Amino acid sequence: MKATALAHPNIALVKYWGKRDDALILPHQSSLSLTLSPLSVRTTVAFGEGADDEVEINGQVARGSERTRVLRVLDAVRAEAGGRPGPAKMVSRGDFPAAAGLASSAAGFAALAVAARAAAGLPADARASSLLSRLGSGSACRSVEGGFCEWMRGERPDGTDSYAVQRFDAKHWPELRMVVAILNRDEKEVKSRDGMKGAVDTSPYYPAWVRDAEEEVVRSREIIARKDLQALGELCERNAWRMHATSLAADPPLCYLLPKTLELIHSLKEQRRKGIPVWFTLDAGPNPVLLTDAAHEVAAEALARACGAIEVVRCVPGGDASLLTEHLF
Ligand code: PMV
Repeated sequence: MKATALAHPNIALVKYWGKRDDALILPHQSSLSLTLSPLSVRTTVAFGEGADDEVEINGQVARGSERTRVLRVLDAVRAEAGGRPGPAKMVSRGDFPAAAGLASSAAGFAALAVAARAAAGLPADARASSLLSRLGSGSACRSVEGGFCEWMRGERPDGTDSYAVQRFDAKHWPELRMVVAILNRDEKEVKSRDGMKGAVDTSPYYPAWVRDAEEEVVRSREIIARKDLQALGELCERNAWRMHATSLAADPPLCYLLPKTLELIHSLKEQRRKGIPVWFTLDAGPNPVLLTDAAHEVAAEALARACGAIEVVRCVPGGDASLLTEHLF
């Protein structure tokens, strides 16, 4: 009753920002992301070990909400397996550079869902793993499969129709590149779960954000189908600005951007005038992720460094979460 899985993180091109159900992690709107290689998280789960659940993440015993979120996923697997599997041991390890600026939780919960289902003897099932990983972290449901994945918001109050599906696989657009520019390594003051709650509860722009994002998901699919880098870059930028605008308009206002973030963002226009195709997206933090192609990733990295990046990670489209034969314990 032991299994190990590997999963990659993902970067949202049309972002998820706001829950309609905090407990089940159900979003107000659909979102669409690209799974990123080579960054990855490996997770081993074994059932029937010890007297109580043991959870270890990156060499530390998990406590508080981190442990609670892992146990929610493990409990759901135990329930699906008819309560047979006993206490679990889980060990998870990421190969992210120190504070890569990309949340490792999406990859971590996707790997946990795939490993836990296999360890409990449940059949491999991308939809079931996506639904399961969503219980740990919303964006994790888009890391179960590779390439471009869409998290459909769903309608049902029980969340059974709120999961991600792959729209295009990792081989669809192999020249696409995402360059993560780490400008600041400090832990962010406001976690995404609190930031998005402030926007839902107090931002007058929130309803407009939801309507717009739903339409942008449809547009992004058409753009990705025809591999139009400029159109995707423009869509990414406007979606990131709109997400941040909802939070800037919240009460209290929330601004994740630092002066260096703006400096890098502003310099992109100049690059494009020079013929370098590069655009940005920005999650709930100060570190932009640059969208470009294979021919320009070195230029994008040089630009990020010139604007003060302390670390740069060049990513390519990543594949599905997969089971490994080598375990972490
Ligand atoms: O799933 P969470 O709670 O890590 O929230 C993710 C929020 C964003 O990264 C800002 C957007 C997204 O869709 O990934």
